[in-house]
Amino acid sequence: MSEQDDIGLPAREAAAQFLEAALSRRAGLDEALSVSATRGLPPRDRALARALTMVVLRHLGVIDRALAPKLQREPPERIRTLLRLGMAQLFWMDVPDHAAVSTTVAIADRLKPTRSFKGLVNAILRGLQRDGKPADDPEALAPSWLFARWQAAFGDAGARAIAAAIANEPDTDLTSKDPSDTEALAALLEGTVLPGGSIRTARRGDLAEWPAFAEGRWWVQDAGAAIPARLLNIQPGQTALDLCAAPGGKTLQLAAAGASVVAIDRSPDRLKRVSENLARMSLTAEVVAADARTWADKRTFDAVLLDAPCSATGTFRRHPDVLWAAAPGDIASLAGVQIRMLDSASGRVKPGGRLVYCVCSLEPEEGEAQIRGFLTRHPDFSLEPVAAGEGGAPADSVSPEGWLRILPHHLEGGIDGFFAARMIRKV
Ligand SMILES: C[S@@+](CC[C@H](N)C(=O)[O-])C[C@H]1O[C@@H](n2cnc3c(N)ncnc32)[C@H](O)[C@@H]1O
Repeated sequence: MSEQDDIGLPAREAAAQFLEAALSRRAGLDEALSVSATRGLPPRDRALARALTMVVLRHLGVIDRALAPKLQREPPERIRTLLRLGMAQLFWMDVPDHAAVSTTVAIADRLKPTRSFKGLVNAILRGLQRDGKPADDPEALAPSWLFARWQAAFGDAGARAIAAAIANEPDTDLTSKDPSDTEALAALLEGTVLPGGSIRTARRGDLAEWPAFAEGRWWVQDAGAAIPARLLNIQPGQTALDLCAAPGGKTLQLAAAGASVVAIDRSPDRLKRVSENLARMSLTAEVVAADARTWADKRTFDAVLLDAPCSATGTFRRHPDVLWAAAPGDIASLAGVQIRMLDSASGRVKPGGRLVYCVCSLEPEEGEAQIRGFLTRHPDFSLEPVAAGEGGAPADSVSPEGWLRILPHHLEGGIDGFFAARMIRKV
């Protein structure tokens, strides 16, 4: 290995840790990223390590399918991790093949477990290199249990279209504070304006350095995530309650629309982000750390938004780790939490007021089944159907029932998966 190739070893070692954290638990990647920042991994290495990890996560199913026949017996976890990272560099990153192999072998050698895996890693990567780049078969891109669920819910073609989106790195979507500023911001940020008013830009790099960030004229929010709050049709001066507010994208929308907002979240840590975001945008809200199910406050509101905790499978375009850290049992237990949150939210809506329920999940138990159950339990609420195109909803996402089932392929260039339904309190 030349001295040149040695560059990037700390980043590759960090990537191995990030990947293992991402695959071992929910939010493991975020935790590992912040730990690496506090431990002083230089920003350049951290960025490379993160990029490497993301490439593996976007192709993990395909990588593991190609690796399986090369491994006669189960290697130690770190060796499997290194092989995955080596493969990502060989096929999907701008790294010379010899560097992809030699750096991976060098790290395997440094590990010095009971025996050296240097030869094995070298032989497997060279073999994979000879086999050539594997195709991104959509069926292999998602964990098989999730793919089977999507087939059951959206058909074979739907499941394949969803899974195909895992491999692609998405552009960044932004929401402007003032809708009359959107066109000017799109020009400034080399972006395009999407149907609901979100701005989409292919820019990369540090957001804080982008034009108009410091002036608080926009915030980052996926085009799909921006739709549910728009369904509340806030009029200036109305009262709004955001029951699961952090990090605050939807709170910002409600406040920017002129509502007097109460923003609740159970996590005081995550609420700091809400306060920081409000301050940067020069917007205000009453920020409260509380459990939405048991918050004792007796006020009722014109508009209530419940962006409930969920499996987050719809966010895999930006967070491919969610797919690999999720477990089948999570969906049933989150569905139980969502029922209790919806019931509690219902009592906080004024007569004639609106309740929007949304989740960034693709799973019907967390979406359609929740609303069917809610409307049965709460005859004082009726569904107010979403009109075609309302709030920027892609045409294919409006269901015959009138709720939204936004799938990643419903917008050219992709959109995060969301379920959203709007209910009115009759009395
Ligand atoms: C999907 S995220 C919300 C995203 C946010 N609405 C936005 O647009 O930025 C779900 C949030 O629910 C919070 N949460 C989970 N259980 C909760 C509970 N019982 N009461 C209040 N907040 C809760 C989590 O801390 C998390 O911040």
